[in-house]
Amino acid sequence: MGLNAAVRRYWEAEPCGTGRWIVGAAPPRSRDWFAEVEEHRYAEEPHIFSVAQFTRFRGKDVLEIGVGAGCDHLQFARAGARCHGVDLTDSAIETTRRHLALHGLSSQLQQADAEDLPFAEASFDAVYSWGVIHHSERPEAIVREIHRVLRPGGKFIGMMYSRRSLVAYKLWVRRALLNGRPLRSLKDVIWNHMESVGTKAYTSAELHALFGDFPKRRLRALATVYDRKWLGPLGSAVPDVLGWNFAIQAVK
Ligand SMILES: C[S@@+](CC[C@H](N)C(=O)[O-])C[C@H]1O[C@@H](n2cnc3c(N)ncnc32)[C@H](O)[C@@H]1O
Repeated sequence: MGLNAAVRRYWEAEPCGTGRWIVGAAPPRSRDWFAEVEEHRYAEEPHIFSVAQFTRFRGKDVLEIGVGAGCDHLQFARAGARCHGVDLTDSAIETTRRHLALHGLSSQLQQADAEDLPFAEASFDAVYSWGVIHHSERPEAIVREIHRVLRPGGKFIGMMYSRRSLVAYKLWVRRALLNGRPLRSLKDVIWNHMESVGTKAYTSAELHALFGDFPKRRLRALATVYDRKWLGPLGSAVPDVLGWNFAIQAVK
């Protein structure tokens, strides 16, 4: 089985950010269920708004790769973007479709592997992807596809995981050091123990190389609630440079 078949199976079972501890007893995909999903997401990751800048995309052709439960997709639709979305899973596509419909909004959504996007070149003003590319078997194929479908001057905005982060170090302590396997690498523990199998996390040099075809690139490390977890009062002192998220902007 190829890696993306395993990735798909993992995310089909439950779209990202829709666990029972988040949605409680709300009936799946009901108004209350979506409200819990959305509230939890932006309480935990408020920085998404400053990175995505949803309201700048009114009237623009926007593609989101890896829509998940559709929270960010909803923000683009609310802002008046002409929305397109893909995800490896049918469950994310259906969840996002219903999420937008609840608010009287719609998008061109389809199941697809972003390593091979079903769009002509130069189709979009912007491509957005939050926490997705590092899950795929060939992230470099996705970045090539993003470059192909963007119009000249078009912008990619996204988030990918940072390897030299507190989230990664804490995972290493738990899965390598405390398991008596201190020689395991950060890459290995992230690959095997972070969400779907095969997850990758990057250094800034690696991300600059990955997006090397984009003449203009900006990377910003961001400390997250997941970096601060278990650190008590020290959590508020975690510097962004040790954060789990790299916000990426790249202009074609
Ligand atoms: C961690 S979730 C993030 C979802 C959403 N962007 C969010 O922030 O909640 C990863 C998502 O990426 C999707 N995904 C993984 N690999 C993909 C690929 N090659 N093409 C399209 N979607 C993919 C998964 O199905 C899953 O919905």
